[in-house]
Amino acid sequence: MLGSNDMQISVLLAGDQGFRTTVGSALGPEYSVVEVDSVHSAADALLAAKPALAFVDLRGSSETGLAICRRIKGAASTRLLPVIACADEGQLALIAALDAGADHVLAFPPPLGELQARLRAALRTRLATERLEDSSQVIFALANAVEAKDAYTEGHTERVGALAVEAGRLAGLDEETREALRQGGVLHDIGKIGIPNEIINKAGLLTAKERIVMNKHPLIGERICEPLKSLKALLPMIRWHHERLDGTGYPDGLKGRAFPLPAQVLQLADIYDAITTDRPYHRARTRAGAIEFLLGEAEKGWRDGELVKLLGVAALNLNLGRTREEDIPAPPAPIGQRRTE
Ligand SMILES: [Fe+2]
Ligand SMILES: [Fe+2]
Repeated sequence: MLGSNDMQISVLLAGDQGFRTTVGSALGPEYSVVEVDSVHSAADALLAAKPALAFVDLRGSSETGLAICRRIKGAASTRLLPVIACADEGQLALIAALDAGADHVLAFPPPLGELQARLRAALRTRLATERLEDSSQVIFALANAVEAKDAYTEGHTERVGALAVEAGRLAGLDEETREALRQGGVLHDIGKIGIPNEIINKAGLLTAKERIVMNKHPLIGERICEPLKSLKALLPMIRWHHERLDGTGYPDGLKGRAFPLPAQVLQLADIYDAITTDRPYHRARTRAGAIEFLLGEAEKGWRDGELVKLLGVAALNLNLGRTREEDIPAPPAPIGQRRTE
């Protein structure tokens, strides 16, 4: 039978009864329709039905419709969902619809031929972005596998991402860069996949030889992510998350302004998380202790002191790190060097 359930493409229809009936009747049997009339029911349907496309009623500059558009385009899980909107005639309504995130804007009632052509166009884009998503998902899955190699860094990459995003927000970085920081948090250490476990988990000091191997992880990480266009903005963060402002870092010895701000933010978030969590090679520091440590590094010329202070505010805002010395256990092995990878 035509249109058996798993063959159907799920479409979200958000608007009043008249809107839903008009658009719904223009769709062929290959589409299954999920109807909603509020932001709340739309949010539920997005989760449950995982639609491939959304039609949203923005006539009369509907507050509900605009909020649904923003909800779709504001969440990472639904950002790539194409939105076709119906809006009133005129420049202002068109601009409001596009600004809220509509990918296509139609008049109402939509001319049948145009509606179906827009639908096909939106689904084509959807297919292309889905393929893109698939390939970057592989990389993110790999990053999780790397994290799983090391029992002590559980949750590290996610916290680094969140902290970098908040510090980036305080530093005035734009939304796109903040999204890159979130992903950079997850991917910055992906190159450790090429580093032997004995080195990653070593409790004591690394020998000079081991240090050379360990220091290759930013370059290995960059090479892993390089083929994917969608990760292009992250490459500098991955490559340079162990540089120092005075040029004594690795792998390139960047100095001063050559060390880009997003990479600095990611690095500070990375170090902060490393030194405030329990590791086999050190006893964790409190939030205040970690900021003091980083300010000491700023004095040495390695970090930007103002940025360190913003990081402290970000850690406070997100409640990351412990505040009381007595809550922090002793390390399981004799204390070695403070490692910040
Ligand atoms: Fe690292
Ligand atoms: Fe890290």
